[in-house]
Order: sequence, then structure tokens, then C-alpha cells
Amino acid sequence: MKSFLLIFHFLLQILLCGFLCSISNAKDTITATDFLTDGKTISSSDGCFEMGFFSPASFTNNWYVGIWYKHYVPDKSVVWVANRANPITNTSGAMLKIANPGRLALLTAANTIVWSTNSSRPLAAKNPIAQLLNSGNLVVRDANDAKVENFLWQSFDYPTDTLLPGMKMGKNFVTGQEFYLSSWKNEYDPAPGEYTYHCDPTGYPQDVMRKGKVKVFSTGPWNGLRWSGVPGLTKNNIYTFKLDFDEKKAFYSFALLGPVMTKLTMNSNGVLQRSLWAENRQEWHVYLSSPADTCDNYGTCGAYGSCNNILTPVCSCLDKFVPKDPRNWAVTNWSGGCVRRKPLNCQKGDGFLKYSGIKLPDTQYSWFDASMTLHECKQTCLRNCSCMAYSDLDIRNGGSGCLLWYGNLIDIHELPGGQDIHIRMANSELGSKKTKLVVLSLSLLIGATVIGLVIGLYIRKKKKKRKMNLKDDLDLPLFALSILNKATSNFSVENKIGEGGFGSVYKGILEGGQEIAIKRLSKSSSQGVNEFKNEVICIAKLQHRNLVKLIGCCIARGEKMLVYEYMRNRSLDLFIFDETKSLLLDWPKRFNIINGIARGLLYLHQDSRLRIIHRDLKASNILLDADMNPKISDFGIARSVVGNETGANTHHVVGTHGYMSPEYVVHGVFSVKSDVFSFGVLVLELISGRRNRGFSHESHSINLLGHVWKLYKEGRPLELIDAHLTDSCYISELLRLIHVALLCVQQCPEDRPDMPTVILMLANDAILPEAKEPGFFTESKVTSEYSTSMCSTNEITVTLLEPR
Ligand SMILES: *[C@@H]1O[C@H](CO)[C@@H](O)[C@H](O)[C@H]1NC(C)=O
Ligand SMILES: *[C@@H]1O[C@H](CO)[C@@H](O)[C@H](O)[C@H]1NC(C)=O
Ligand SMILES: *[C@@H]1O[C@H](CO)[C@@H](O)[C@H](O)[C@H]1NC(C)=O
Ligand SMILES: *[C@@H]1O[C@H](CO)[C@@H](O)[C@H](O)[C@H]1NC(C)=O
Repeated sequence: MKSFLLIFHFLLQILLCGFLCSISNAKDTITATDFLTDGKTISSSDGCFEMGFFSPASFTNNWYVGIWYKHYVPDKSVVWVANRANPITNTSGAMLKIANPGRLALLTAANTIVWSTNSSRPLAAKNPIAQLLNSGNLVVRDANDAKVENFLWQSFDYPTDTLLPGMKMGKNFVTGQEFYLSSWKNEYDPAPGEYTYHCDPTGYPQDVMRKGKVKVFSTGPWNGLRWSGVPGLTKNNIYTFKLDFDEKKAFYSFALLGPVMTKLTMNSNGVLQRSLWAENRQEWHVYLSSPADTCDNYGTCGAYGSCNNILTPVCSCLDKFVPKDPRNWAVTNWSGGCVRRKPLNCQKGDGFLKYSGIKLPDTQYSWFDASMTLHECKQTCLRNCSCMAYSDLDIRNGGSGCLLWYGNLIDIHELPGGQDIHIRMANSELGSKKTKLVVLSLSLLIGATVIGLVIGLYIRKKKKKRKMNLKDDLDLPLFALSILNKATSNFSVENKIGEGGFGSVYKGILEGGQEIAIKRLSKSSSQGVNEFKNEVICIAKLQHRNLVKLIGCCIARGEKMLVYEYMRNRSLDLFIFDETKSLLLDWPKRFNIINGIARGLLYLHQDSRLRIIHRDLKASNILLDADMNPKISDFGIARSVVGNETGANTHHVVGTHGYMSPEYVVHGVFSVKSDVFSFGVLVLELISGRRNRGFSHESHSINLLGHVWKLYKEGRPLELIDAHLTDSCYISELLRLIHVALLCVQQCPEDRPDMPTVILMLANDAILPEAKEPGFFTESKVTSEYSTSMCSTNEITVTLLEPR
């Protein structure tokens, strides 16, 4: 993986900014004699950014001076506005010019100053000019002094709603100046809106979104690697990010690794978006957005409440806590939060209980020390009765430093990749020390009467042989057999729409007219029971628009049935491998399907609480709704891995040949990278319209993967493409996807990209690394082909797959 990143990085460096921007001859400066009027612009010397007059909508007569990407973007992406609160209504005669002493000013025809820059040392420049730098920073400086520290003024110190690479967000403790984003009032009015986004260093730094004065979202504190509550912010090939924090300053910033356009924008509707310009689609591709779900709304569950987006309801009290106001809590008003079951007794002595997998609470009332050990941290917290919790300050290298919280703990989430926190507890609650792993217990009250179905799923972690019981309440409607009988005319043959792995699938219509699909597990299959439980547990907890939705289940008279939303267009294989139906899927539709599957997989691998490896991703398990949106289905053999565990081993290899990765078939080792392999096969099938398994070619006896590899090596990848896709105007995108797919099906799991990287690769035209030989390109030599020596050894394979 390292070499993969290195190559990628290297190629990106070579191309840095020679790509989306084209060096322009336009001027990049405003001088005393040369000013800017409506209709004229200046551009950064590399042609990336442009500045001039603009009006945000044709129906307003309001004009502003702003900076935008010069590269073609359908709706001009304005990244900075000068006179955001003071529009000009008549640009005739208006100008942006250098005015003495040392400032840049926007004047109307009547010579009134609408906006101007400002400097503490206005006389420092003898010959002041304004220049638009390649970073998008507009600076006022002396014509003969380009030193950063001597700039009189820079737009990067006055952000509007967009954080560009190289800009900073946070606070200078020496000058007291704060740099933060503030949204536009609305899409057409750049005046400061309701939402602001700060890197807030009160207590310990965390990013905070406010609506007016009210906190609406917080990232949780910085943990050395990232924000505690944003596990999706991981090392990637597009940008790096950091927190620069000492006595003098707390600045959050990011920097680009490649020739891409990416920005962080505080939108006027209260959503913070990290987007990436997808050149091939000519649109901004939203890569991360916050708040993303109910749990992201600040303090959803109140003090000591814990939010988990996968559960229904999302809020529960932390273990050993109970709702403070049970009545309101029961009707999903969680604002009252929770209190300790047993009150603290600081005089008689308290202790601490460790909670794991947590987004750390708001650090507004906190204290820290980078040099303390965790033990000293505990002692410090114990000495002060209002100290409620402590944790590592920095999680790198096994953890270091000390972070303490005073007062109630707010905005706690349960997250994959969450952290440990030690919460103050009455001594009598501490119990035996043996319970090293404290799993958050979830309140099992609600719904228990509705469903008598509580299923324990035991996940064995092979190395540590530690068992964890996930006996969660499933808030899932139970259907009576009679209702399903009626919906399907007693499971008549006409209503049968498919034969799944462990039974048949029927179409049904409920009394209200809702269409459903019913998976009826065959009574004879003994395996069925486990698969049934597995699927119920997995999917009931997962909610994503690219995963098929489970509506309910039915257990009666030895029958086990799952009720799903009905997918009008059934499954993907019925289209792509069918000569006439395949005509209905043009390339934009297929690309949309590929993207949807990728997002669904990303959710399974990364975003859901139970990290899920699907293990049986294939065309017939991709269902299509009426609008041809894909939904991943069939979680019968999916496996959940807990927390950071990313690989596992099984003696019972199940799956579908043609889609299974070599390390899985041969050694039973599966990981998220086995799903990536299957995804790669699927993409190639979508592009070629041919099945991997059973592929035949007149001139050789290799399978589809081998065929693609051969064409790729010989520089003829176009020959792969499904005949009726070739006359579309998306050839370069198709070629790129073949390349991405080949990266996904590489022999060694560590060479394959993970899903976040795949999504970036799909979105963006950055240079891809060279693909290595795919696994299994001849079907006949399945077992001999793959030898462990070609990759690393079995043990290492598992550890190498740590998330990055
Ligand atoms: C805009 O300003 C110019 C110059 O001052 C003037 O001639 C023109 O009438 C103005 N237009 C409007 C619509 O006010
Ligand atoms: C200009 O400087 C003054 C004093 O330093 C400050 O109060 C004011 O906010 C500044 N204005 C702008 C637009 O930066
Ligand atoms: C929600 O609960 C809190 C106390 O727990 C209460 O003060 C508040 O009025 C409740 N809000 C509503 C809308 O019922
Ligand atoms: C405990 O910490 C709080 C917050 O820092 C402080 O105000 C208080 O004085 C401390 N109490 C003692 C006894 O040190």
C-alpha cells in the first residue's frame, strides 16, 4: 500500500496545478494606475483563480467583487467576496482601485467607498499594489516586497464561506484575531448568514458550527490525527489536514496533494460540505458533509446521553446512567439527558469507568496537559470534584497527554473508530476489575413488547478469543403470516420473482397498496436459521439509500420470512447480461449505478457502527428501483467485524465464484478488500456487458479479468467496452473506470484501494497508479495461481489492512 501511495503522490506532484488551470496572460495585479472595473478581471498567474465583479443571480441588481475558480464551472463557484454586505446596484463607473495610503478600495461612480482593506501599517508600502496569488489569496503589498510577513492585508485573513487550501481557521491568541467561515444569507445573497464555522480553542480545540449563537454541530476535540467525531476524515490522496496549536495560535488548515479543486464550504442551509471538482462529470462531488445525521445535531441526547445513528431510537443513556426525565425521554425528547444511577460521593471517594468507541464530548469546559501520563491525568481529575472525565489527549503512538472535562458531558456518540474515555463514577458502581471491555449497554425497553425477537450475535475475534454479545433490540415490525399470505395470493407461483440462496422471493402487495418483496427461507435448510438471524441483525441496523430496506419480518409455523421494499427493476444482472435490456442502461445510468454501489459499500465498510463485509457482492445482488438507483441486497453471509478489526478468517468459504478474491477462496481470509475485489469485477461486467465467470473468447481461454488485463497491457482497452456504449461521448470516463476496476481486482489485497479511495478515484481525474496483475485471471489455475509468497504472508495480510 505504501508503494501505491508513493507512486500516486509522485505523479500528482509532477502535475501539480498544470491540470485544471492553464497559465494565463491576464494580469494578476491592480496598481495605482491600473484598476478593475465591471467587465474586466484579473487572474492568478497560474490561471486557477479569477477576480472581478459579479452578480449572484440574474434577477437581482446587486453587484459584488469576488474571487472564483477560473476553470469552467457551470455555476460560477465564488470562493470569496469583498463587499459581501454592501452590494453595488450600479456598476457603471464603479471601480476597485489602490487608494492611499496602502489600501484597496471599492468605489462607486459617486466616489463613495463601499468597501476597503485596512492595515495597521498603511504607510509601510511606498508603491502599494494588490495581487491575486495562485492560492486564491488576494494580497495588498509593496510592489517590490513579496515577503509574506510584510503583506499589508490578505483576503485569507477575512474568509467568507469557503476554506481554500492554505487558508486557516482558528484564533491568533496574540492579536486576538479570529478566522472563521460564515455562510451566505442565501444562495443569492453573500451577506453574512446565520451559520458560522469556527475552529474553537475554548477549552481544547474543536470545530464548531453555530446557528446564530447556538451550537448546532461539533466535530469533537482534536486527537492528534483528526477530529474525534469525524472518523471519515482519514488520510487520503487528495489533501492533508492539520491543527497547528500552541500558546500563540490554534489554526486548522488543509493542503492539496494533487491537481484538484477541493474546498470546504459553509452553506447557507447549515451544511458544511467538503467537495471535489469532478472534471469528468463537470460537477462538484460532495465528499464529506456535516451534520450528516441526527446524531450530528449538537447534543441530541443531552448530558451523558449517547447517540448512535444505527439504533432506533438513536439515543440511549451511557451504561450506569438513567434518563433524568423519564417521561420526556420516553417520548423521544432527549434534551434532559441522563444522570448517574448512583450519585457521586467525592468525599468518600469516586472512581472511573472506561467507555470505548466514543466521540469525545464537547471540550468547552476542559483542561489539558500534553506531558502528563494517563495515570497522572486520572489523579488530577480525582482531586477536583467537578472533574467528570479524562482521556488521552493524543491517540497517536498508543496515547499520551491528558484531557479533563469539567461539568456535564455533552454530545457523546458511539462511533466506529471512536475513543476511550474514563468517566467519574461512584465507587459502588465500579464492581469487578475484570470487565476490561465495557460495552455500552443500550436501553432495551422500547419495542421489546412489540417484538419477542432479540437475537444475540456472537462475533469471534480470532486472535483474542474475546466474545462480545450484541444482544440489541431490533425495532422491526413483525408481519402476521396471514397478511403475507394475502399479499402474495398464498405465495402463488405467479408471484414468485426469484430464487435466492436460501429460499424463494415473492412479490406482494399489502392492503394499503404498498409493494413488497418477501424472501421466504426454505424450511429444510438448517443453515437458513443463521443466515436469517445474520441478515436481520445486519440489515435492520443499516440504513443507507444504496442498501435495500428491510420493512419487517415474519416468524410463524416454522416459516422465516423477510419483508423488503419492492424493487421495480429487480436485479442488475437481468439488464447488463441481456442483449435487449442492456440497451436501457446507457453509460450515465451505469456510472450512477457504479457510484451508488460504491457509496453503499463505503457505508458498510466505514460508516456503519458494525463494520460489515458483504462477502457476496455480485450483479444479481444489486437491485434497481424504478429510477434505476442501485441498492445492495442479500446480507445472508455478510460478516461484521468490530471496531478496528478489518480482516478475519473462516474455514467455511461461501460466496460466488467469479467474484471472490484469491485470498478468500484459497486461504479463507476475508477483509474489506475482498469486497473491493468483487466491486472491481462488477464494474468490469457493467462496462463489458459480459460475465466474469463463464467468459469465453475465441482467441484465448482466460476469463474476463484476464481478458481485460491483456487488453490493458496491449493498450487496447477500448475493445472491452460493451458495443452500444462505445458511440457515447464518455470514452475517457470509461477508460478511467476500467483502470479503477483493475486496481480493485489486483492480486494482493494491500495493493487494492479501499472504498474511500475508490470513491475519490471515481470522482476525480487525478492520475491513477499503474495496475498490477489481477488475481485469478485464468479460471483453471485458480488454486495454483495464488501463492502467498506473491503478497505478504497470511498474518501480515490481516494487519496491513488497518484503516489509514
Ligand atoms: C448608473 O450610473 C451611471 C453613471 O453614474 C448613470 O449614468 C446611470 O444612469 C446609472 N444607471 C442607473 C440605472 O441608475
Ligand atoms: C480596520 O481596522 C480597525 C482597527 O484596527 C478595525 O476595528 C476594523 O474592524 C478594521 N476593518 C476591516 C474591514 O478590517
Ligand atoms: C423536553 O424535555 C425537557 C426536560 O427534559 C422539558 O423542559 C421540555 O419542555 C421538553 N420539551 C418539549 C417540547 O416537550
Ligand atoms: C476544580 O476545577 C475548576 C475548573 O477548573 C476550578 O474552577 C476549581 O477551582 C477547581 N477546584 C479545586 C478544589 O481545585
